[in-house]
Parts: sequence; C-alpha cells; structure tokens
Amino acid sequence: MNKEFLVESMSHGAYAIATDSESGKKIFVENACPGDVLDLEIYDERKDFSFAHISEVLTESDLREEDPKCKLHKICGSCQWQHVKYDEQLNFKKKNLIDLLKQNQVDLSLVGDLDGNVSITGLDEPWHYRNKVIYPVSSVKSTGRVLAGYYKRKSNELINIKYCPIQYSIFDEIIDRLKELCTEYTISDPLMRHMLLRASHDQSEVLISFIVRGKLLDKKQRAAIRTIFEKIYSEYEQIKVCTLNINDDSTNVILGPETELIVGERDFIYDQIKNVTVKISTSSFFQINNKQFCNILNAFEGHTENIKPHKVLDAYAGLGSISLNLAKDLPETQFYAFEINSSAVTDALENIKENNLTNLNFMEASAEEYFQSHDKEFDLIILNPPRKGCTNKVLDALMRRKELKDILYLSCNPATLARDIKYLEKKSNFRVQSIKAFDMFPHSFHLETLVKLTR
Ligand SMILES: C[S@@+](CC[C@H](N)C(=O)[O-])C[C@H]1O[C@@H](n2cnc3c(N)ncnc32)[C@H](O)[C@@H]1O
Repeated sequence: MNKEFLVESMSHGAYAIATDSESGKKIFVENACPGDVLDLEIYDERKDFSFAHISEVLTESDLREEDPKCKLHKICGSCQWQHVKYDEQLNFKKKNLIDLLKQNQVDLSLVGDLDGNVSITGLDEPWHYRNKVIYPVSSVKSTGRVLAGYYKRKSNELINIKYCPIQYSIFDEIIDRLKELCTEYTISDPLMRHMLLRASHDQSEVLISFIVRGKLLDKKQRAAIRTIFEKIYSEYEQIKVCTLNINDDSTNVILGPETELIVGERDFIYDQIKNVTVKISTSSFFQINNKQFCNILNAFEGHTENIKPHKVLDAYAGLGSISLNLAKDLPETQFYAFEINSSAVTDALENIKENNLTNLNFMEASAEEYFQSHDKEFDLIILNPPRKGCTNKVLDALMRRKELKDILYLSCNPATLARDIKYLEKKSNFRVQSIKAFDMFPHSFHLETLVKLTR
C-alpha cells in the first residue's frame, strides 16, 4: 500500500511542507497544497529533511485553486503558488512572516497580539500587476526562431512564453511581435541576453530595451536592432522609448552600466505614483506593482502623520518614489535621500523638478559611504534596501545616531528583514512597534513588509 503524506504548510519558497510521520523529517514538495494527502517519491534525501515529487494526489485539499490561470504554473520559475487559492496564499505568507520573526527571536512584545495586529494587504484583482518584464532570449537551432520567456524552475531551459497572467497584458502582444522581428533580423543569443519591457500603470507608455553583449555587437547587428526598434515603434503608439543596454559582465546581474537611446524622443517613460509624476529610465529601480505600492505609500503616510518628523532620510531611495510622495504631503518637513545607482539619481533629480518640490534633497551615495560621511540629524530614517538587506556597517551607523527616534524598514525579503531587526535589537534599544505586510507579488512566495522600529 502507498504511504500517505499530509501536506501541512507552505514554505517561504517554492515548496509545500509535509512531515514523515515515522521519521519526523520534513519533506519539501513542489506544486503541493496544504491539506493535500499525497503519495510521494523522494528524490533527494538529506540528514534533516528531504525533497519529493508528487506521485499521486490521494485527496485534494480544499485550499487548492480549482482553475489556475496559467497553464505553465507547475513548471515556470516565476509563480510558485498559483495552485493555492489567493486568500490562502495571504494567510500562509502572513504565517511564514510571523514564524520567521519568531525563529529569529525578534522581540514582538510591543506589537501585542500577532494574529490581530500584524496585517497583510492583498489585491482585489491579483492579476496583470507586473509593470516590468525581463525575459532571457534564446533561439531554436534548426530554424532560428527566436524564443523569450522565463526559465523552468531549477533549470536553464527557457519556456517560450506567449501569455503571462501576472504581467501587464500589453506586454504579450509586443513581445510576440519582437520575437518575430528578431527572428527575421537574426538577433538572438549569444548577442542578445535579455529583452526588458516596462510600462506605465495605464499602459499608455512603454519602454523596450535589448540587453546585449557589447563584445559581440557589430555594425550590421546594430543596424538590424535599429530597424527592429523603428518598426515596432511605428506599430505601437504606446512605445515611447527603445534602448540598447550593453552588458559584458559574466555574472547574473542583468543590466550593464551603459544604456543608449536608439529610437524615441526621450530615454524614459512617465508614470504616476499616487500624487506624483515620475520619470523612469531603463535601469532605474521602480516598484513592480503600482497598485500595491500605493497601499504601502498610504501606510508610510499613516506613520509620518503620527510621528510628525521634522527631518526624514530616505535611504536606498531608487528614483524617489517614497520620498517624492511624502515630501509632497508634508511640505513643512525636510527630506533627504540617497541612492547608489546614478541613473536612478538622475531620474530622481528630474522628478523633484517635475513635481516642484523644494523640501527634498537627493544625492548619489552608497549607504555605507553616506553614513560614514554625513552627520545630519534625522528623527526618522526610511530603509528600503535590496533583497540582501542592510550591511552591519549601516546598521551600526544607525544605532550610533542618538537623535534618531524611529526607523521605517520596508523590505522585500522577510529573511534579511528578520536578521537585520535582530541585529538592531541586540545592539541597541530599537524595538519593533508595528508590522504591516503587503502582497506585492501575488502567486509567488515573495512578500513586502513594512516594519516600524522605535526607541
Ligand atoms: C528595493 S529598491 C528601493 C528603491 C526605492 N525605495 C523605491 O521604493 O523605489 C533598493 C534600491 O537600493 C539601491 N541600492 C542597492 N545597494 C545600495 C547601497 N549599498 N547603497 C545605496 N543604495 C543601494 C538600489 O539601486 C535600489 O534602487
């Protein structure tokens, strides 16, 4: 008789978790849903846990989504949780966040009842939310047909994607046409590494960039790329910008340092984020989900209203999405911001002008440099680092600032968030006061969290 395994929870990753009732070992299973009873085939057995494939679903969980929108959801590396009902995704994300904070022994006493006081905000319509897509490019050796899409999970095999329900719908059609044109003009890998598209929230402005290896780019290919861009630019009035980004790096960093405008009157698109207009260029970071980011900005505003800060620092500020909005709302407050990426800083400076703000000072710096060389006093510091979180050097510098009362830490990675909070807590008297989670990335395991730390 087959052995039965009951799936108990979702991991903070691509797997659901079952427990082997005999050994007590955790088993990680892809495409399984809590509540499923499964027959499993173990394919990787480690000392404390195992990985398994589903051999047979013996009883299907009520928490399973009956009709996932994407046919590729079981293999595509982009969504890992589409097979779980959306409301249940939110419950598991919240549970995982709280578990992670507890595992890191973060002091949550000021938050009080975690179930009641830690909120998670989902989306009413959790589809077509991604305003940017970056597809690796490949081609069929025998025919030269150009393919673009996401990689299969844990593999370098490309899935040629024609329809993706989590990204803006305008991208599917444009990408299809780009693939046709790239096939016609033989522009593919190894010259072209990725195609990038980003669009404004109303999809009236689209930017396209081809990310290529400069070492392999000759005159003929450059001319072919220009022709492709000219054609697509003339076919879609929404396309405003076509750029070429050169990346000769051998790492997995997608964008290279040089971007060149090939077709278009400007090298950025306009978007609106809450009350401000923003210019976004090819390589600037911009939050992927406008709707959910507006909810996050509302939460920031709720906090700043309560604490009435006089001087605020926006650290890791990107092109200024957070501080531009707060500076507009709080004209009496002085805002300072810094960012390491020079193209985002250029966008930010333009955005300050565009929105007539006189209370926001923006500069190019790394967090490590900034805190070493600037001793301006702040009542509130906003931290929004990349996935890897803050370095200890930055956290140490924050703790030394005696005048600093509050930190608002917005994180896209609960693991590094918990690590950084624990570090601050161990070495200073900062404590977590509130936790609000936002589902910025529906159908994936990722989660955005805003934590207020106070002294
Ligand atoms: C998660 S994004 C946040 C951007 C911005 N707060 C927003 O909401 O659009 C993180 C930003 O930190 C920048 N960054 C990465 N490492 C940095 C560092 N060491 N110092 C300063 N900025 C850094 C990245 O370029 C990116 O723009």
